[in-house]
Amino acid sequence: MRSLLVGFTLIVMAITAPIMAAQKVELSIDASKTGAKIDRNIFGQFAEHLGHGVYEGIWVGPDSKIQNTRGIRNDVVGALKAIKVPNVRWPGGCFADEYHWRKSIGPQRSVTLNPNWGGVTEANTFGTHEFMDFIDQIGAEAYVSVNVGSGTAQEAAEWLEYMTAAAPTALEKERAANGHPDPYKVALLGIGNESWDCGGNMTPDYYVSQMKIYSRFVRNFNPAQQDKQQMLKIAVGPGGDGPRWTDWTETVMKAYQQHTWSWDINGLSMHNYTVGHWPPSYASVGFGETEYGQILKFTLEMEGLISKHSAIMDKYDPEKKIALVVDEWGGWYAPLPGSNPGFLVQQNSLRDAILAALNLNIFARHADRVRGANIAQMINVLQAMIITDKEKMVLTPTYYVFKLYVPFQDATFVPVTFDAGWYTHGDVALPRVDAIAAKDANGKLWLEITNLDPNQPVEIEASLAGITPKSAAGETLTAPKVDSVNTFDAPNTVVPKAVSAKVQGGKLALKLEPKSVTVVSVEQ
Ligand code: AHR
Repeated sequence: MRSLLVGFTLIVMAITAPIMAAQKVELSIDASKTGAKIDRNIFGQFAEHLGHGVYEGIWVGPDSKIQNTRGIRNDVVGALKAIKVPNVRWPGGCFADEYHWRKSIGPQRSVTLNPNWGGVTEANTFGTHEFMDFIDQIGAEAYVSVNVGSGTAQEAAEWLEYMTAAAPTALEKERAANGHPDPYKVALLGIGNESWDCGGNMTPDYYVSQMKIYSRFVRNFNPAQQDKQQMLKIAVGPGGDGPRWTDWTETVMKAYQQHTWSWDINGLSMHNYTVGHWPPSYASVGFGETEYGQILKFTLEMEGLISKHSAIMDKYDPEKKIALVVDEWGGWYAPLPGSNPGFLVQQNSLRDAILAALNLNIFARHADRVRGANIAQMINVLQAMIITDKEKMVLTPTYYVFKLYVPFQDATFVPVTFDAGWYTHGDVALPRVDAIAAKDANGKLWLEITNLDPNQPVEIEASLAGITPKSAAGETLTAPKVDSVNTFDAPNTVVPKAVSAKVQGGKLALKLEPKSVTVVSVEQ
């Protein structure tokens, strides 16, 4: 019986061996040909008052046993500093259009409701000062979304004056009395959120009339942001690719083309989740190759969506002054069993790491137009970087992708040409590999290559022109299964490990493991 089994195993190995042989993909890179800057803001994060995203995820309060600095947990701050978060979008999301900033400043905070997300109360202990302290601790900039849906332009204008005024106005004095004499910097301003839906169900024309008023009156008074580093105003943009959404983009962009001295915008937002179909029903863990392939196929639709809306923007803004800011993106799956469905709790697997890499690469390829993006959401919600449970914290596979991509922040895009070949499973066909390259401020070439195929390794041979490559080194992120996750008990299942690459005769050779995200740098 035993020898029969051994024989059978050998036959299976013999049959599968050629199938498991590495596929070869050739890349061609000319480092002297450069494109647009990959704006560091495409690596932005999103922190909404939703579930445990802010409370517990960031804010534990100064009296907590969890180590904190002025109420903000130190472990989370340390982890986020390492991925160089450029900006954090806050306080929402749908929450932003029901947020009233005055309720969360000063010694007395009003408890309010959070009707969008789980029907819980909102303590308002994390407000303007706490948010600004948090982003200061992690070294990020503020992307503040103001309330257009249920607030007024006056309320938003006063909030901006409170945050940014240096002159001794009543609001400036109130801010100083609340502990911050210096004006805060607000780098990005979101004028509403999904105003076509949870933000007020507005028609495009109605939104545009509101947006103009907010753009005119919601001013930034910070003296350091007048000539340089001016606050960028982001208008609500589309949430899909049908006529409803192209009409929205047309309306906002047409208005922009005709704008006068009295109002302006600098960006158009776009939201696109990888969900499959609503309501979200794909499992975030405990799935197989079929769901792996399907979700990655859905996520690649980001490319078509960006191209479609960019083309409309090009009609009204050929100089590409207006950035497309994909300020909500990521995988949105079924809530984990036992969790409050309104808290949008899901696991984060190796599939999410691949999904993140594919989207970041799409943004990088559109770097001339896509100059901002915010993954949803930073902690404990949807496709999070970090998951916490009381004093415990774990870094997700998506976190490690953002860490691997740090060298691409503000690097200059370098085109890569390749024939990716195909990985097929059932009725899903995906490009076998994806790749981007960029040059950093020191002229060093960085290369990212994703192997989407969950079964077969890929042999990469990259011809490198425009540089004299001497050596290459990097890191790769993979794991045993497509749905491998990091847990509090096993936090190192999906973590990057060193990968070696050979450089010879102007070519770089490297073997990619199945279902992996790899970043290498080339020394010259
Ligand atoms: O990220 C969760 C929600 O998704 C946001 O609040 C909303 O803008 C979007 O619909």
